[in-house]
Amino acid sequence: MSCESPIGFFDSGVGGLAVRDAVLRILPGEDTVYIADSANCPYGPKPAEFVRRRSLELTRRLVGMGCKMVVVACNTATAAAIDALRAEWPRLPVVGMEPAVKPAAARSKSGVVGVLATKGTFCGRLYRDTCSRYASNVRVIASVADEFVEMVERGEVDGPGAERIARAKLEPLLAAGADRIVLGCTHFLHLAPLLGRIAAGRAELVDPSDAVAGQVRRVLAARGLLAERPGTGAGRVMRA
Ligand code: DGL
Repeated sequence: MSCESPIGFFDSGVGGLAVRDAVLRILPGEDTVYIADSANCPYGPKPAEFVRRRSLELTRRLVGMGCKMVVVACNTATAAAIDALRAEWPRLPVVGMEPAVKPAAARSKSGVVGVLATKGTFCGRLYRDTCSRYASNVRVIASVADEFVEMVERGEVDGPGAERIARAKLEPLLAAGADRIVLGCTHFLHLAPLLGRIAAGRAELVDPSDAVAGQVRRVLAARGLLAERPGTGAGRVMRA
């Protein structure tokens, strides 16, 4: 494993590609390997133990391919497995995702924050701890949006059908006064243009992908693992 080794990513499906793209925007010279566990999508409603087992299996594959870092490009898998992954590979840098409740709470003027995520993410200790640590000053409304995962897997990110489903989820949060909507699942990042249009003038979306990309760069730099090649790295996407 060296600075020229790839960064590995995995998610239940195509959602985490938005995170990989955010990383490549600031680190275009990095090689990447992305595994979409589409056969097991969605993770959100599944038992945490199942998601943990899959996360260990997929990380083992990425490590086997020589990855220098693994990005868990999935909030649900992070909630279920980040501790297990770090325990299994103590020397491997592992970067995870969690709903960006902290910046949303800090920026909210109305004092109401809406969070869209999966059941698995909301049931995790990480989410509960983040809310009690950083969002005790605001009202946080959690909304499970499994329909969004299916839409994105189908490639349906706009159009009348997608808009109807998106409105049904978003309008109750907006009606409750939420002025920040946290996209707490990587699949939802693909719906940001549609959701942003619906929320325009009423709420801002909080997309964590740039912050995660920044964390990837910081961790790689701290370990002396940033790719040194000029130009563009290679990218591979595979189904589990
Ligand atoms: N993209 C995932 C997340 O960030 C999971 C979606 C799912 O499979 O339910 O939570």
